[in-house]
Amino acid sequence: MNNPIYLICRNLILIAAIALTTSCTEVKTYKIGVSQCGQGQWREKVNDEMLAAQHLYEKNVKVIIANAHDNTQLQINQIDSLVNEGIDLLVVAPNESSQLSATISEVRKKGLPVIFFDRKAVTDDYTAFIGGSNVEAGRASGEYSLEVVESMPINGKQPFIMEITGHMSTSPAQERHEGFAKVMAEHSEINYVCREGDWTSEEACRITEEQIKTGILPDLVFCHNDGMATGVYKAVVEKKVEGKIKILGIDGLPGEGIEYVQFGHQVGSYIYPTHGEKIVRLALDILTGKYYERENILQGMMITPENVNLVDLNSRELMKQNHDLIIIQDKLEASLKLYNTEHKFLIASIVGMILLAIAAILAMYAIWQSRKTLRERQSMNEEQTLFYTDASNRKLHELFIIPEEQLPQPRSQDMIFAEQLNETIRKNMSNPNLKMEDLGEEMGLSRVQLYRKVKAITGLTPVELLRQMRLQKAYSLLTSTTKTISEIAYEVGFGTPGYFSNCFKKQFGKYPTDLRT
Ligand code: FRU
Repeated sequence: MNNPIYLICRNLILIAAIALTTSCTEVKTYKIGVSQCGQGQWREKVNDEMLAAQHLYEKNVKVIIANAHDNTQLQINQIDSLVNEGIDLLVVAPNESSQLSATISEVRKKGLPVIFFDRKAVTDDYTAFIGGSNVEAGRASGEYSLEVVESMPINGKQPFIMEITGHMSTSPAQERHEGFAKVMAEHSEINYVCREGDWTSEEACRITEEQIKTGILPDLVFCHNDGMATGVYKAVVEKKVEGKIKILGIDGLPGEGIEYVQFGHQVGSYIYPTHGEKIVRLALDILTGKYYERENILQGMMITPENVNLVDLNSRELMKQNHDLIIIQDKLEASLKLYNTEHKFLIASIVGMILLAIAAILAMYAIWQSRKTLRERQSMNEEQTLFYTDASNRKLHELFIIPEEQLPQPRSQDMIFAEQLNETIRKNMSNPNLKMEDLGEEMGLSRVQLYRKVKAITGLTPVELLRQMRLQKAYSLLTSTTKTISEIAYEVGFGTPGYFSNCFKKQFGKYPTDLRT
């Protein structure tokens, strides 16, 4: 259709449809489910970093965190819930390395990528790992412990180093121990014992008190995290052996390990890197089909009394920036919500305006059309007037115009009756048995009424009128057709041709046969 109005309306509808579809197409948000084995400062820091990274990259990301409070069954349930919530990828720090393999396999079977971070489960069925090297953390702590004890006055006695592990069902405890024990094994001059802890400061405190009670004080206690190191410090203070036992931990967080080194409670702490933003980056790379490394080892470092202030400064600055980022992100999310609402409102207004424009165009088109028809009619009228008033056309005009005197005149009641009667008689005259009652009935009159009316108008009785009309018709048929006399007699309603002939003679003074010669 090439009608311009149709084209304009079609294009406007197209624009409205495009505006609607673009406003309705939601930008994909990648849902990252995070299953944390437990709580504590270290995990809170990772969580904050992951949340802050939600708006850091080119894609929309939603980080959903669940905390299992060191309970493996709870963690399994939480992973199920996260998957049911429709996450696109699972980030998990398994509470116990051997207990989560089946759950992880289930998640993988559903086609979801799985990132292990910080801890691993005993399975090779995972997409990627990201975290510090725990073997390296143990090794570096071993080397540093040697340095520390070597610098201590030992008065001829064998240096004594005690290791208190995290829960040995977890991979970091296994690997930290592996790294530390390896260094110790290379130094037979060291008296080295390893006691199994459970990541809590209470258990570390209890183990230390037990050791102090034996009267053989360790020169250095290495704990698998700074939390446990505070338990050791507590025992040392309580047993009044402060300064005699050096304490080393892992995690190196501001407000925790870093402060303990600054206060002199600890001789050092190994920074076990968090980098939540790198976890989110890795997740996005996997989800968007980009290249990624399967094993991603984050760099750690030893905090000592020598570098602690510098590390503290940097860490605080980083923490503050992270905190600011979270605030900015909250504001951003609020503005985004507002923007989305306004955007939808704007699109609705545009669509509304387009529909109004279409309605206006259609209305104007309809008005224009009717005016056009009106104008056409007017000009036709004018043409007609011109046609009839123009002298050359007058003759033609007369062809179609009936002179007034020939126009039908108003008819009287009697005239109407007479015409009706004439009609009815003509219709029925061929019936030789026609009765006056039948005639009257057809005219809507009784026999008497018919008699009076016919008599008044014609001066004849209905029977006389019928006979006269039959004979006149017969006369006309005799003179205008080749039908036989008998045929004509029957046609006009006479019972026998003889009777017809007699009546005819009486009426016209001659026999029907006379008219045929
Ligand atoms: C926190 C924590 C840290 C430790 C890490 C090992 O939950 O215990 O202190 O470095 O987990 O996975």
